[in-house]
Amino acid sequence: MPPVITSIADLKALHRRRTPRMFYDYCDSGSWTEQTYRENTTDFEKLRFRQRVAVDMSGRSLASTMLGRPVAMPVALAPIGSLGMQSADGEIKAARAAARFGVPFTLSTMSICSIEDVAEAVPEAPFWFQLYVMQDEEFVDRIIERARAARCSALVLTLDLQILGQRHKDLKNGLSAPPKITARNAWDFARRWRWSMEMARTRRRTFRNIVGHAKDVGDLRSLMSWTNEQFDPRLDWGKVARIRDRWGGPFVLKGILDPEDARLAVEAGADAIVVSNHGGRQLDGALSSIRMLPSIVRAVKGRTEIWLDSGIRSGQDVLKALALGADATMIGRAYVHGLGAMGEAGVTRALEVIAREMDVTMALIGRRRVAEVGRDVLLVPRDFEGEWAENA
Ligand code: GLV
Repeated sequence: MPPVITSIADLKALHRRRTPRMFYDYCDSGSWTEQTYRENTTDFEKLRFRQRVAVDMSGRSLASTMLGRPVAMPVALAPIGSLGMQSADGEIKAARAAARFGVPFTLSTMSICSIEDVAEAVPEAPFWFQLYVMQDEEFVDRIIERARAARCSALVLTLDLQILGQRHKDLKNGLSAPPKITARNAWDFARRWRWSMEMARTRRRTFRNIVGHAKDVGDLRSLMSWTNEQFDPRLDWGKVARIRDRWGGPFVLKGILDPEDARLAVEAGADAIVVSNHGGRQLDGALSSIRMLPSIVRAVKGRTEIWLDSGIRSGQDVLKALALGADATMIGRAYVHGLGAMGEAGVTRALEVIAREMDVTMALIGRRRVAEVGRDVLLVPRDFEGEWAENA
């Protein structure tokens, strides 16, 4: 009997069972003490809905827009590194599920399937491309051209990962792509036979945006050190402007967690910003995205689209973010759990779960359109923003 999946938590449990530990752990971890990672979800729980009754709930719709284009719901798939290690050809599976559902998919620079792999396999919908800024400007310029040639419809520049936040589990597990099989982990891979068989059938097992495209990158070992050396520590707003000009299309800045940075992002020409702490994977001790959202909304609402990620595990979380002023959201782990659990069908399932949770909740709070979801649908604890917001 196939398992009955009714929630993202179900997909998470199945992901854990079906995917080798080093890749499951890569998904399910934050940096250092994981305080920020935990609070990203527990802070959502502090927000409550107002139940409203006898409001006509017929004809509800989740439809919205992101960057001026229609979306089935205001939920995009965030860029995730090494998706193709959660499930063979994972980026293609996720892009296909997103295209069929009618939401955007973002391909990471650090993906296993390349820009060209995804464009060829999923021609029906343009995807977005996420960029990390490397020191090698020529490589950056070329990858922007490749994204353009593949008809990517937005560039998402990530600003909060020029140095990697340490995640203890990844170091202890010896995370790599392709994975190194050792006496310690051999059984772990062997018993995930479905994963191993699918992985044996694909040729995409390392970072194909980079291998074969960047100078002196022949194998993984050199790739790992190349990546560590190449993320540009001198990234500043001047470089952001250079990349914006080079791209010249819809431009999204991701990793904004401070009102001052939000203002600078608007000045840098961001068509959208993503309020994000990288899923608690970078600066441990930062506040959750949902807590920082109101102060960022006060700073830049109406001057750019404001999206939020980090901590969304349900359709109710999406609505809470919209209620506090976000125009849309991105999900990461919520769909990666689906991918690791059931491949493309699992990503579709994750999207269906979130859509259903949004739809039923909208009915019970008395709203028929996402644009009608304002702060008045929530009960917000008096100290939700805390003293920190006043400092900002
Ligand atoms: C990369 O984006 C990561 O968080 O591992």
